[in-house]
Amino acid sequence: MYDFKTHIDRALTGSIKTDMAPESVKDSGLVPLSVADMELPVAPEIREAVKEAADRAIFGYTYADEAYTEAVRRWMSTRHNWDTSGFQLITTNGVVPALRFAVEAFCEKGEGVVIQPPVYMMFANAIQASERRIVENPLLFDGERYTMDYEDLDRKTAPSDVKLLLLCSPHNPVGRVWTRDELTRLGEICKKNGVIVVADEIHNDLLLDGAQHTVFASIPGMDEFSITCTATSKTFNLAGLSCSNIFIKNEAVAESFKKVADRAGGGLVPYFARAATIAAYTRCAAWVDELNAHIQHNFELLYAFVERELPAIRVIRAEGTYLAWLDMRALGLDDKALEEHVISHGLALDEGYLFGTGGSGFERWNLALPSELLLLALEHLKSAVNEKLK
Ligand SMILES: Cc1ncc(COP(=O)(O)O)c(C=O)c1O
Repeated sequence: MYDFKTHIDRALTGSIKTDMAPESVKDSGLVPLSVADMELPVAPEIREAVKEAADRAIFGYTYADEAYTEAVRRWMSTRHNWDTSGFQLITTNGVVPALRFAVEAFCEKGEGVVIQPPVYMMFANAIQASERRIVENPLLFDGERYTMDYEDLDRKTAPSDVKLLLLCSPHNPVGRVWTRDELTRLGEICKKNGVIVVADEIHNDLLLDGAQHTVFASIPGMDEFSITCTATSKTFNLAGLSCSNIFIKNEAVAESFKKVADRAGGGLVPYFARAATIAAYTRCAAWVDELNAHIQHNFELLYAFVERELPAIRVIRAEGTYLAWLDMRALGLDDKALEEHVISHGLALDEGYLFGTGGSGFERWNLALPSELLLLALEHLKSAVNEKLK
């Protein structure tokens, strides 16, 4: 049994989530439920490996050597039933940089990149920062569940200057683990319209409710025109080690991607990330199973609490990630007012509007924390909601 109960105080460690939280949150006794890293200790096997690496006392330049690539490829094979032998493995210092590289490699300035909002805000940012054009294919929401709008996708990807789609799979923040059928349908439309799919699968191991993750590139016919972005950062709480693994099969696509990545100093694996990744992917499968059970438990606490205490609020049932998506529109507050209201109750959440179209009036909660701290935060949610609805 691993430890998912201990809370580690991150104050004054330079933690973005903790040290940059609003003052009312710092004073509330709650931990922030924002930024997607975990308030849970890293697996002991990984800590051991990093300590051993520190004890070797030289922290030189390191690359994706055989021990590293074997560990990564084996994980994809055993955990995701995906044979990566025909794929190039390219390391980058994060998935977000990889999204930027793909946008710059396959799109000229002014050309279109499709995203499916509400979606992780750095998708839009990667496109805008590169002066490419955002093309929105908003998700459909029936009040309970999100799905893709294929007719709209076909229309949006048809113009010849739309070159790329950034797919979030599993989807942050709505928690969908897209089914094989859904992904196949999306892939067929993109293929027909000559659009490359960049599948951001950073949340691929974080699965709930018995959901199965399908690697987009593993679907027959989809491997040649896709890029698969993976990392240990979300699954094992290693975001601060800045390392991710990008898989590309098509040689021309891989060369174009590498050209941009190399210009930005790509190809290295940070010294401690190498040690941590090998340990994570070779020794920590059981830890991930227990983590998923813990996250599921936290979701159950959230569902039960909201159903019992706050029937006006709706929690979207998550199939993956450790991010909960709450529909708070019943409070009748605009974006700024909702943000100020939850902060005044000590809650640092990620505001729905940050995720673009369809996000307004929602809040994203990070459930990767000890259950006791979640229960405490839920009491604050209750007083925040009741104050507005009484
Ligand atoms: C979908 C998605 N992609 C990428 C990232 C961040 O990736 P990285 O830290 O590797 O740049 C996140 C972090 O929350 C995410 O949710």
